[in-house]
Amino acid sequence: MGGAVTKSDVDHCLVENDLCYNGFLMIDLRDVAKKKRKNAHQILDEVIYRWSPRSMTGEPISEEELTPLFEAARWAPSHFNYQEWHFHYALRDTKAFQELFSLLVPGNQKWCDKAGTLMILVSKKISDENQQFIRTHSLDTGAAWQSFAIEGIRRNLVIHAMAGFDYDKAAEYLHLAEDEYQVECMIAVGKPNQEVIDEDMSLRKNLEEIITKLE
Ligand SMILES: Cc1cc2nc3c(=O)[nH]c(=O)nc-3n(C[C@H](O)[C@H](O)[C@H](O)COP(=O)(O)O)c2cc1C
Repeated sequence: MGGAVTKSDVDHCLVENDLCYNGFLMIDLRDVAKKKRKNAHQILDEVIYRWSPRSMTGEPISEEELTPLFEAARWAPSHFNYQEWHFHYALRDTKAFQELFSLLVPGNQKWCDKAGTLMILVSKKISDENQQFIRTHSLDTGAAWQSFAIEGIRRNLVIHAMAGFDYDKAAEYLHLAEDEYQVECMIAVGKPNQEVIDEDMSLRKNLEEIITKLE
């Protein structure tokens, strides 16, 4: 799929898979992954075909488009249901977006200039209830990130996590108390452009390499 289309194409697309933006048929990110990734067992499509593209159009992302992603993150599981995650986001064409952009390493800035939204994902390390350290704060926040990303790919959005940025400056920017919060990663969200088709696709270790049966 790609390029400008007729109204009937758009109507068809909206009914079929909800992947139209501004009257343009978009590349389906899942289809791109489907061609390159082969699963060993049948599982939920979005789990296999979630990937981290970089090619974005530079279009803005609306609050309406973002909210379902946050909703997906909201339902992630966590230790004692602590829900330690917090997403600090900035929409494109705002001062905050520029400020978040400036935290990124040059290698990430190169493609994030076309993001519709940039975010800093933070976890809370200390329980509100008893002020104890929460050992699983990063694990739980990672689960929220994955739910966010899965819902994003389902909606054909580029969702790309990044560790390539200045963590100290990010914490300072958000005025985070170091003993209470941890900056986990930054996230770029955007709309895919045609160049995603030519991007490298990461594959995975074999199943046997990541599991050990205990007897
Ligand atoms: C916490 C985290 C940090 C990452 N940091 C970066 C980064 O700074 N720059 C980048 O281009 N990709 C980054 N990635 C993307 C990974 O390289 C990518 O997820 C990995 O290669 C697996 O590919 P896939 O997401 O397409 O399946 C990051 C991913 C995660 C989860």
